[in-house]
Amino acid sequence: METLKIMNPATGEILKEISCHTEQEIKLILENGQTGFKKWAKVNAHERSRLLKDWARKIQEHKAELAEIITKENGKPLSEAVGEINYATSYIDWYAEEAVRIYGRTIPASSETKRIVVSRQPIGMVAAITPWNFPAAMMTRKAAPALAAGCSFVVKPAEETPLTTMRLIELAHEVGIPTDVIQYVNGQGPVVGKLFTDSEFIRKITFTGSTPVGKVLMKNSAETVKHLTMELGGHAPLIIVEDADLDYAVSQTIISKFRNAGQTCVCANRILVDENVIEAFSEKLTAAVNKLTVGNGMDTNVDIGPIINEKGFNKIVAQVEDAVAKGAEVLTGNKYDVNKEQSSFFVYPTVLKNIDVSMAIMQEETFGPIAPIISFKTIEEAVEIANSTPYGLAAYFFTNDYRVGMYLHDHLDFGIIGWNDGAPSAAHSPFGGMKESGLGREGGIEGIEPYLETKYLSIGNLV
Ligand code: SIN
Repeated sequence: METLKIMNPATGEILKEISCHTEQEIKLILENGQTGFKKWAKVNAHERSRLLKDWARKIQEHKAELAEIITKENGKPLSEAVGEINYATSYIDWYAEEAVRIYGRTIPASSETKRIVVSRQPIGMVAAITPWNFPAAMMTRKAAPALAAGCSFVVKPAEETPLTTMRLIELAHEVGIPTDVIQYVNGQGPVVGKLFTDSEFIRKITFTGSTPVGKVLMKNSAETVKHLTMELGGHAPLIIVEDADLDYAVSQTIISKFRNAGQTCVCANRILVDENVIEAFSEKLTAAVNKLTVGNGMDTNVDIGPIINEKGFNKIVAQVEDAVAKGAEVLTGNKYDVNKEQSSFFVYPTVLKNIDVSMAIMQEETFGPIAPIISFKTIEEAVEIANSTPYGLAAYFFTNDYRVGMYLHDHLDFGIIGWNDGAPSAAHSPFGGMKESGLGREGGIEGIEPYLETKYLSIGNLV
């Protein structure tokens, strides 16, 4: 039987070995999900809302336990894991409220004997594929609107971090959300992904992960014309305008860049600084980065945990080496703590200067604690550099000049923009990307729409 060994990336300790579901088991889970959907779609919205609120409450009661699971399987510092549980809960709270606000409408008809009524219905069974970097929040960001809308839900968590998802789903069952309405499947991505895309029962796939995998899911979903939400890669620019408050901008850059050791889709990946303030900004950023501590996320006062695996680590090192070979200056970092035997890979937070657009670090997502600084002369040039990749997820800029701010807002091709804000994500806001960063939005009032079908009824022959 195929198994997954769940490993603590800080220590190499095997936390648990779990069985992968077989093809037959997965097919049965999907059949159950279809039965679950038929029942759940008929549960009234107030009851769905109540059950979601109970789930949120239960998660909060188990916050310490869940945070520890996240830190052990993902590596992020415990304080960040606690923050993630709160963030994950906020999606359930938000969509518990939205469940009772799924409104239809009436349309004035062109004849006195007709009425037209528009109603919203749950789309069907939803399959989610979630990443290892936010094992709790990326699951609830999908499950909560699906369940609120009346859909059943099955999730394949990342092979590295299934334990958080499994525990969250157990808690959902404990509060009374039926076992066939929310389920998980463990297995290898390509195998489970294909069973999901081939399934006649699944009406929607929602995925957070890399752009290449998203493209495969999109292609494979074409056969059964599934609805899709794709939260794909990012390569966020962070622009420091000449007039920016540099101390404040540095503090927000630290939040954006180094959360989860830089392993987020929205983290600042390319730091663009006006040439007139680049020296001052680089100095201040380097001083702040030098205060960050690296280590096991379970230890107190650790800011930067391990990189999830060797593949991720090798990509980071290759980008830094490429940049240095092409003339980048290392202001701090470029230091590693590696124990290959126990598979633990730590990268010290690194600041690089003298970056240019020919370097791989300016073209590809990094997913690590590396801050490359590139200079610009004009706002137009900053926008051109920022928009010059296929990605369009998040962008940040720092200025107190409202005209420059609005110019940047209008010209940056990104779905999420932080203006003097390094942490724009929130359950009540529509998270999602443009270009090859994805399709659709999660969070906010937009986030429930992809789980609903629109149906209209035209009644004739009235008196
Ligand atoms: C992500 O990196 O995929 C999500 C980050 C967030 O929700 O802020």
